[in-house]
Amino acid sequence: MQIVRTPGSARAIARTLPRPVGLVPTMGALHAGHLALVRRARSENASVVASIFVNPMQFGPSEDFEKYPRAFEADAEQLEAAGVDLLYAPEAARMYPPGFASAITVGDVSRGFEGARRPGHFDGVATVVAKLFHAIEPTSAYFGQKDVQQTAVIRTFVRDLDFATNIVVAPTIREPDGLALSSRNVYLTPEQRAAAPSLYRAIRAVADAVAAGERDPARACAIGAALVEAPLALEYLAVVDAQTFAPLGEAAGPAVVVAVAAAGTTRLLDNVSIPGPGGVDPIVTPARPRRAFSVSRPKQ
Ligand SMILES: Nc1ncnc2c1ncn2[C@@H]1O[C@H](COP(=O)(O)OP(=O)(O)OP(=O)(O)O)[C@@H](O)[C@H]1O
Ligand SMILES: [Mg+2]
Repeated sequence: MQIVRTPGSARAIARTLPRPVGLVPTMGALHAGHLALVRRARSENASVVASIFVNPMQFGPSEDFEKYPRAFEADAEQLEAAGVDLLYAPEAARMYPPGFASAITVGDVSRGFEGARRPGHFDGVATVVAKLFHAIEPTSAYFGQKDVQQTAVIRTFVRDLDFATNIVVAPTIREPDGLALSSRNVYLTPEQRAAAPSLYRAIRAVADAVAAGERDPARACAIGAALVEAPLALEYLAVVDAQTFAPLGEAAGPAVVVAVAAAGTTRLLDNVSIPGPGGVDPIVTPARPRRAFSVSRPKQ
């Protein structure tokens, strides 16, 4: 596995990789959710690139940029073992040199929910993802359903700005008790950790109520809200359109149940899809049939 640190060297080496090329963008402190994305990319591409970049542009001034978990050596080992060909780990000063003055701003889909609570967050996400796409020029890029509004924002600018990269969204990987894996789960106290799975039970209950015929989003969400356990404090719980993130007047699939609960200063984010007619999931990209590639097999 090669490691590169600048946009120029990333592009030069990425251009030599056998195509198709799959990219897995991360902020590091890797867990099984990230590794599932790498495995999916590995099975669908001749070459796999992972990136590790704790992107200052997507953190608010009072957020945890400084104390965000960092584990570069262990991350690199896991990526190499998973068969990653190229690791792009740029320095912030090379991504945002003096005079940097541009951003990608996405419209309505980025304004509610996370966008409203984290001003500028999705501008930071869209801008850094666009920069990663220009450096690596991936055939496909892999994202987790856990950050579902992020996937909707990325799909929107990729379509609007004619990016050639195919966006693949893979299912959320969870702890056995239902808690969605997240690098920030290490912040939870034992008491917060014990209550954390109640958020997943809540959103599941909303989705189940809709599947059972409940059409009033407020009533469906009230069923879920009642399940969230202290010391978690629910910030929002809503049934939204999977593409636009507009709250639905009538709860019916295809849709997404989105929720955030605060555990102290840690925000737990989760969502589940409500399938449309025929059971089609509105978020997750169906796996492509395995293809045989002659190069770049995982190294053990
Ligand atoms: N539990 C998970 N299952 C599947 N994909 C995930 C999971 N958690 C994160 N991802 C995906 O991994 C990619 C990189 O995310 P990131 O590095 O921010 O990890 P994270 O666990 O979301 O960290 P944090 O919660 O601190 O933001 C994103 O596409 C994200 O959606
Ligand atoms: Mg994240």
